Amino acid sequence: MGQQLGSKMDNWQELEHRLYMQTFKRVPVTLVRGQGARVWDSGGKEYLDFVAGWAVNSLGHCHPAVVEALKEQAQTLVQTSNQFYTIPQIQLAQLLVGNSCLERVFFCNSGAEACEGAIKLARRYGKLHLGGAYEIITTRDSFHGRTLAMVAATGQGKFQEPYVPLPDGFINVDYNDVDAIKGATSSQTCAVMVEPIQGEGGVNVPNDKYLEEIRAWCDDKGILLILDEIQTGVGRTGTLFAYEQFGIEPDVMTLAKGLGSGVPIGAFLAKERASVFAAGEHGSTFGGNPLVCAASFATLKFIIDNDVPGKTRRVGRYFVSGLEKLKAKFGFITDVRGRGLLLALGFTGDIAEEVVLACLEQGLLVNGVKPNALRFMPPLTITEKDVDEALGILETVFTRMASHGR
Ligand SMILES: Cc1ncc(COP(=O)(O)O)c(C=O)c1O
Repeated sequence: MGQQLGSKMDNWQELEHRLYMQTFKRVPVTLVRGQGARVWDSGGKEYLDFVAGWAVNSLGHCHPAVVEALKEQAQTLVQTSNQFYTIPQIQLAQLLVGNSCLERVFFCNSGAEACEGAIKLARRYGKLHLGGAYEIITTRDSFHGRTLAMVAATGQGKFQEPYVPLPDGFINVDYNDVDAIKGATSSQTCAVMVEPIQGEGGVNVPNDKYLEEIRAWCDDKGILLILDEIQTGVGRTGTLFAYEQFGIEPDVMTLAKGLGSGVPIGAFLAKERASVFAAGEHGSTFGGNPLVCAASFATLKFIIDNDVPGKTRRVGRYFVSGLEKLKAKFGFITDVRGRGLLLALGFTGDIAEEVVLACLEQGLLVNGVKPNALRFMPPLTITEKDVDEALGILETVFTRMASHGR
């Protein structure tokens, strides 16, 4: 089957099967080039990319601002040790702090590492200010990354079971249930960590008051609120950070994904009072190196200067109205959910994989976030015309499925 989907099954895929650890359930396509919201495979077939490197290519593929920054920095200074000051790192820190409610930042290389750093910070805070409290409350269906501690934080059995025993000190409770957080809080709790909208868990938007009530509870107990904005941050949900839409400010926030529009960067930011690391208590060899910081600075500056979050809101609304029309037409669509350009379509049955493969054949990349839900996380720079094209392909695919008795 694989051979018909991509424009051609190539030797690279055969080699991968022999050489690479088989942890990814890949689709049979070898991507070789990208430009804007388009990618091309090794046989020359073009795709409209609504996966965007897993919500990473915020400015699309090979955006000129990012390419220029990378080229210039690659010829100037790529890596130093963090023993030295480097200007791109400080410039990026200034841009992030100047445009968020947080006051200090630390750079690392991925989302998992950012969350791991935030947890270490919260534990340090617990030691210094909460009598040694070390437990973190997180939610079921969350996703915080693949390191051992973040697997413990991620409230999904399928990621945890292969690796028990897991690091101690994480309590997973139901999402969108403040009473569950209250019930799990004890004298050992130092922080609550949640995603403002769960991404990997299925694009789950909580009730309007959920984050506000968690904020009030954390204030009441003197514990930290960590928001994992790795998927929702940097414009994805229609504001620079999702917390802005919920009327609260976190004590600590994690970022990665869209922050570099493709270069691997993670960050965690904190309010001054929560920024408790002393010299030597955390570190990274590559974290915040000049190359990634220059690309990330170019990304974030473009997003801020060009009101990309505002455009994301507008194009997102346009996309939602088109998806709602599809929902009205096809009985197997249950709901349209999400914010900005982090959207999902729910189905009555487990048809997401079939839809993903049919879309692939038609030249559209989408993600089956759950067996019964499709996720869209395109570049934030897509236009209404791109959305029309995606909607057209979805309609063709759904019409065919409906005619086959779905
Ligand atoms: C909310 C959230 N946190 C953390 C992560 C982990 O990021 P990474 O894969 O860069 O380690 C992800 C990745 O999907 C995520 O969506």
